[in-house]
Amino acid sequence: MKSRSACCLPWPQSSRGKFSSEVLEMAVAGMDGKEEVIQAWYMDDSAEDQRLLHHREPKEFVALEKLDELGVLSWRLDADKYETDEDLKKIRKARGYSYVDFCEVSRETLPNYDEKIKNFFEEHLHTDEEIRYCVAGSGYFDVRDHDDKWIRIAVKKGGMIVLPAGIYHRFTLDTNNYIKAMRLFVGDPVWTPFNRPHDELPARKEYIETFGNKGIPEQAIEAR
Ligand SMILES: [Fe+2]
Repeated sequence: MKSRSACCLPWPQSSRGKFSSEVLEMAVAGMDGKEEVIQAWYMDDSAEDQRLLHHREPKEFVALEKLDELGVLSWRLDADKYETDEDLKKIRKARGYSYVDFCEVSRETLPNYDEKIKNFFEEHLHTDEEIRYCVAGSGYFDVRDHDDKWIRIAVKKGGMIVLPAGIYHRFTLDTNNYIKAMRLFVGDPVWTPFNRPHDELPARKEYIETFGNKGIPEQAIEAR
């Protein structure tokens, strides 16, 4: 079990209501070597194929601890035993993830593939967490940092991430063109994306209050 200081633990009790010693325990669960399956870096501004790495020159990697500041949780789990994995069970129990299904994203398996791929990559937010556990393949979850810069989070088999409600983000496959992800949810799932801007939504306001985002200047939105 990895050590991790309490100062890095996300989601204070007052704002999320789910924080408990059990959740704290979850924050240190999972296998070692998380960086082997989850990496993050700042993106360049290139309009090239979204499935490319889009590293800056020189590369600017982002420590996974920094993702905590954005409210993004992550674990490494053993994807070869997801059906019986006790660590996964603990996470689900602690965070109330009662719903599970799988989403296989590839041209062969996903109906309306081109439209869905386009929609996934539209910058959006949800009013609930987006919880994805990669059990095969790989993909990129891009999130906005507090300065409105894109951070690309590369997730491979064994990587599980939670994007908090209200964070602006998007998803794309990488050049392997395949991911199989477990989708989890608290209760009946709501997958509705709210494309940016949707700053008036309570989930967005709560996100900003909780994680200290100072808000995005209007001109930054207009300039996109
Ligand atoms: Fe999303």
